[in-house]
Amino acid sequence: MKLPPEARFPTICIHAGQVPDPATGAIITPIFQTSTYVQDALGQHKGFEYARTQNPTRLALEHNLAAIEGGQAAFAFASGMAAIDTVTTLLQSGDHVVVTDNTYGGTFRLFDKVLRKYGLEFTYVDTSRPELVESAMRPATRLLFVETPTNPVMRITDIAAVAEIAHRHGARLAVDNTFASPALQRPIGLGADLVMHSTTKYLNGHSDSVGGVVVAARDEDVAWLQFIQNAAGAILSPFDSWLVLRGTKTLTVRMAQHNVNGMALAEYLVSHPKVTQVLYPGLPSHPQHALAARQMRGFGGMLTFDVGTFEAARAVCNRVRLMALAESLGGVETLISHPASMTHASVPPERRQAIGLTDSMVRISAGIEDPQDLIDDLAQALAAV
Ligand SMILES: Cc1ncc(COP(=O)(O)O)c(C=O)c1O
Repeated sequence: MKLPPEARFPTICIHAGQVPDPATGAIITPIFQTSTYVQDALGQHKGFEYARTQNPTRLALEHNLAAIEGGQAAFAFASGMAAIDTVTTLLQSGDHVVVTDNTYGGTFRLFDKVLRKYGLEFTYVDTSRPELVESAMRPATRLLFVETPTNPVMRITDIAAVAEIAHRHGARLAVDNTFASPALQRPIGLGADLVMHSTTKYLNGHSDSVGGVVVAARDEDVAWLQFIQNAAGAILSPFDSWLVLRGTKTLTVRMAQHNVNGMALAEYLVSHPKVTQVLYPGLPSHPQHALAARQMRGFGGMLTFDVGTFEAARAVCNRVRLMALAESLGGVETLISHPASMTHASVPPERRQAIGLTDSMVRISAGIEDPQDLIDDLAQALAAV
């Protein structure tokens, strides 16, 4: 089981960071549920001293995720938010950050309610327009924080273009790659310095774990992130590390079906008379379809559609039978949600309006069921509207 240097993406997902257990030959990395490690003598150990600092299951996952994203090293955390929070520890008080205006609500909350207290400044812009990114940069800007595609209005940022802007201004580019997953988009190859994930979503893929990861491309960031992972201690547990490691083995095949189902639902909804708008980067009508086709390998399983009124949106959410009404995304089962009252309820109405998020929008995280079953479910829900 040696990964050849020319191995392709699906092979890397399955084998990177994976070696049979030296003690038993177990093909799957065990869950090392231990808090400490016995040392051979004073100052002599096997590379593991205390489990906040090092854990073999977490290490196997981190090697796997670094290879999948094409980074130098990866660090796994207890949640996606803990991963994002860790990235901001690369900054100093007085630094300025430019952020995608339609960023995940939890990220906005962390930046606005917590980190501003520590003297960090944030400017929110539509990063899908590079000219707005350029004009938001200041001498104190040290980080450009981008999400693409955005949730739930599916705007796409040109990663290579904004990497060039960030670097020209002496800032790092960090990309939250949760929505696309590395099967569809690998930001480091396009110039990003840091990639974050909520592993809760596509990387784990089975809606049974909460976690996060930071993947770093630069040596100096690797050293700091390793230090802060131990110093602050928001680590991913051995069991969650094992679950995500199991998830990444099937990432390629799951994403292929998410792509198929996302496209099938988008095409069905576009032709439905009660649907006024469908936001899916795979549709030629999406304003950034060409960019998405160039930057992504497949358009994913996330789509948003508008049914004209809040009452109609509520009816669709309440009447689906196979789809589950729930927050979160990226699992094998299809979820439906009403962003304005669920995931984005804490976003002020004027901000929601500015990013084009209406009260009549419904978001779907397409799972990997048979697409016709999903279409049939939406058809019966829309028939009742
Ligand atoms: C794009 C994105 N980033 C980060 C997060 C936060 O991840 P977690 O819930 O694992 O803390 C989420 C959660 O929904 C998300 O959608």
